[in-house]
Amino acid sequence: MKKILTIIGARPQIIKSAALSRAIKMKFADQLTEVLVHTGQHYDEEMSAIFFKELGLSKPDYNLKIGSGKHGVQTAEMIIGLEELFHKEKPNAIVVYGDTNSTLAGAVAASKMGIPIVHIEAGLRSFNKSMPEEINRIMCDHVSTLLFSPTKTGVKHLENEGFKMNNAAPYHPDNPKVYHSGDIMYDNSLYFSEKAKEGLTTHQELDLHHKPYFLATVHRGSNTDDPEKLKAIFDAFLEITELYTNHLIVLPLHPRTQKCMEEYFTEEYHQKIKDCKQFKIIPPASFLKIIALEKNCELIITDSGGLQKEAYFFKKPCVILRPETEWVEIVEQGVAVIADAKKDRIVNGVKAMLAQKDAEFPDLFGDGKAAEFMAGKIVDHLR
Ligand code: UD1
Repeated sequence: MKKILTIIGARPQIIKSAALSRAIKMKFADQLTEVLVHTGQHYDEEMSAIFFKELGLSKPDYNLKIGSGKHGVQTAEMIIGLEELFHKEKPNAIVVYGDTNSTLAGAVAASKMGIPIVHIEAGLRSFNKSMPEEINRIMCDHVSTLLFSPTKTGVKHLENEGFKMNNAAPYHPDNPKVYHSGDIMYDNSLYFSEKAKEGLTTHQELDLHHKPYFLATVHRGSNTDDPEKLKAIFDAFLEITELYTNHLIVLPLHPRTQKCMEEYFTEEYHQKIKDCKQFKIIPPASFLKIIALEKNCELIITDSGGLQKEAYFFKKPCVILRPETEWVEIVEQGVAVIADAKKDRIVNGVKAMLAQKDAEFPDLFGDGKAAEFMAGKIVDHLR
């Protein structure tokens, strides 16, 4: 029996880990045990605990309770906590997801101790090193043992960065294994899609059954921490409500964004947002709620990587509030548009996406069995 130690910390990682834990329990329970460690990067009920309840996840075996802070302090405290735990638990490998500070901390702590690192969502690049996530994912990829990329583009990026792509050769730290695995979030979207009907309570609360609406989210530091950009995004939202008078905009609000709005927006502007009856700002949504909102909306406006893809999974057009995206496939497919935090580009992006008549959404993110594939490869590697 081999032991993996999975590190989660931020909201999407909790959701992603559900798929791998499920695959292990269903297919590999006699070969692999999993210890779940929450760094505590996200700690609000709505940002963390609710997902465990809703997705039926076992409680983390450990919670480091690190919380928010300056990136260096936050990451450093995680490294210290994780190193201690690795000594105690002696895992055969660790699993990290995506590109958050929790991912980086896990990768640094494990690489110093020579513990194999499994990176899920490897190879993604925005080619924008001003994003902390870009730095986190590059550093993590380059110390990983098994790299699972959700897309072919991700595999290509790794190849361009010197990865040898020789999975047949015996493993050596200079020859890590890179797999095109498909997207673990797609597994979850399919799995929970039916259950998402339970998330429809939001529709009743907001009376959305009878109204077309756009779903919007904003949380990236590059948008929230820049008063001009944050204002431009909200100006665009307000203009969209004026252009589409029978539509609502539903915005589940990340705590970070809320704090920045409180700091940067004037009383008058807050009032303007409040007075706009089409603008529904709600607390952060649980996974089932967000899926229900995604499935039933007309279009998604977001700076979240996860929502960009989920828009695609549920065949919705998407306006991306970033200057670039890691999910270039959906832009190339013509069903998503990059608008940055520019008011006119956002408004025009919405117009262009809604004007499309024959949008197509071919399978780009695998077959919904990525987690099973990855668990199998982990077992093979540790054997
Ligand atoms: C982090 C990830 C980002 C990911 C996102 C998912 C990094 C560098 N970024 O961004 O890649 O897309 O998670 O949501 O790791 N806060 C609360 N309660 C919480 C959590 C956060 O109030 O439970 C507030 C705090 O003010 C905190 C701020 O949000 O300082 C930012 O939180 P943090 O975890 O540092 O980054 P995210 O913006 O959530």
